Amino acid sequence: MMTFTDLDDLLAQRHSCRAFLPEPVPREQIEQVLAAARRVPSWCNAQPWEVIITSGAETDAFREALQTEVASGNPKPDLPFPSSYSGVYQARRRTCGWALYEAVGVEKGDREGSSRQMMENFALFGAPHCLILSSPAELGAYGAMDSGGFVTAFTLASQALGIATIPQAAVASYSPFLHRYFDIADDRLVLCAISFGYADRDHPANGFRTDRADLAEFVQWRG
Ligand SMILES: Cc1cc2nc3c(=O)[nH]c(=O)nc-3n(C[C@H](O)[C@H](O)[C@H](O)COP(=O)(O)O)c2cc1C
Repeated sequence: MMTFTDLDDLLAQRHSCRAFLPEPVPREQIEQVLAAARRVPSWCNAQPWEVIITSGAETDAFREALQTEVASGNPKPDLPFPSSYSGVYQARRRTCGWALYEAVGVEKGDREGSSRQMMENFALFGAPHCLILSSPAELGAYGAMDSGGFVTAFTLASQALGIATIPQAAVASYSPFLHRYFDIADDRLVLCAISFGYADRDHPANGFRTDRADLAEFVQWRG
């Protein structure tokens, strides 16, 4: 029987992977992860998530096409990106950005270096698989909220099988291209991608971990 410690360890071990090995994940394991992730709660049990998953040559073709699009196109996410990060959110965002840049040897102020690392998003960090997640537009923010649960469960179930993941809003910033490329209906919102595969553990981009705020920073106890 799974204990709290097992789950807590899984939560602690998962991290976003930013350099993958080329080896593919067996289809049965991807199916296992999807079957587990779909168990998350959703409002009215609507289960609004739909995913497209690329493998092999399809991932490479998508990676190429995405990079070409990014070079020429304008970002236009279906789901508006945050308008700003202020206060503590800005501080946390900077901390995790700097941790990444420090790990890969990009100095503060090195715009070219940071842009090169950012562009790795569109190379899918070398992952052999990419999942594109969408939710019906009519379900609005709650469809996106339910799908966020699916993202979390997908990353944890993957972790339990030794599969590394990274959710990527960056990919969703090219939503019109994704609709065209994957023939995603206009009445669905592209929410994010998840690149996944096996971690290149020795790569510097995987050499740092983020931390979390103490409970006191986000909990108000009443009574
Ligand atoms: C919805 C969502 C979108 C994200 N988009 C990106 C992204 O575009 N590029 C990236 O490098 N990381 C992205 N991340 C990963 C976060 O930066 C990461 O989860 C956070 O810094 C905490 O680190 P951890 O996942 O290693 O625990 C995203 C995470 C989530 C949940």
